Amino acid sequence: MTQDELKQAVARAARDYVVSHVPEGAIVGVGTGSTANLFIDELAAIKGRLGGTVASSEASKKRLEGYGIEVLELNAVVEAGREIPVYVDGADEITARLEMIKGGGAALTREKIVAAVAKTFVCVCDQSKLVQTLGTFPLPIEVIPMACAQVARALGKLGGQPKLRAGVVTDNGNAIIDVHGLSITDPAGLETELNQIVGVVTNGLFARRGADVLLLATAEGVRTMTR
Ligand code: 5RP
Repeated sequence: MTQDELKQAVARAARDYVVSHVPEGAIVGVGTGSTANLFIDELAAIKGRLGGTVASSEASKKRLEGYGIEVLELNAVVEAGREIPVYVDGADEITARLEMIKGGGAALTREKIVAAVAKTFVCVCDQSKLVQTLGTFPLPIEVIPMACAQVARALGKLGGQPKLRAGVVTDNGNAIIDVHGLSITDPAGLETELNQIVGVVTNGLFARRGADVLLLATAEGVRTMTR
């Protein structure tokens, strides 16, 4: 099976997960990226049972609205005391402990915010994303533009090679620095440490709040792993 076919299979499995685990009329959190896009395409078929969605990027919002699926503002959802039972999103790397690197699509901050509100984070990946140790995929960091140079210097002291992602501005108006060459043995510890660097908005480690469920597309079918 090609990687695209695996992504398609896992997107379908995520739709089935929503149908079987999310009550009708509930809000679904929607991630960003190519796998999340396929999930949005699948959601279109069941849009009548959704009570709306919350999107983690402008790109996903646009795609959802293109199908006539309502996209709600997160603040309005929280203020109304409504819940997001499930958030479905991809990852760039994930371990068997369901700790992840995310942010390849530069949407990490909004992804982390929606994930923090959602009850259950369902990660949708093809088998190439499952790793023993995080860090082969360069770790994305969202940075306030005026702080890029000093944040890069601080990241260098941690042992990685920071590289500014050229030409990328996040939905929040910030820059992305990708840190190459890390072998991350304590993802939760590093996630906390990186957030202490002044000028860092968010880092792409999702360890303190990892996924709860992993739907992993393999050549033998979609495997479900839980924390
Ligand atoms: C976007 C992300 C994506 O979830 C991650 O990059 C995976 O994307 P894809 O499904 O295209 O492989 O974190 O910021």
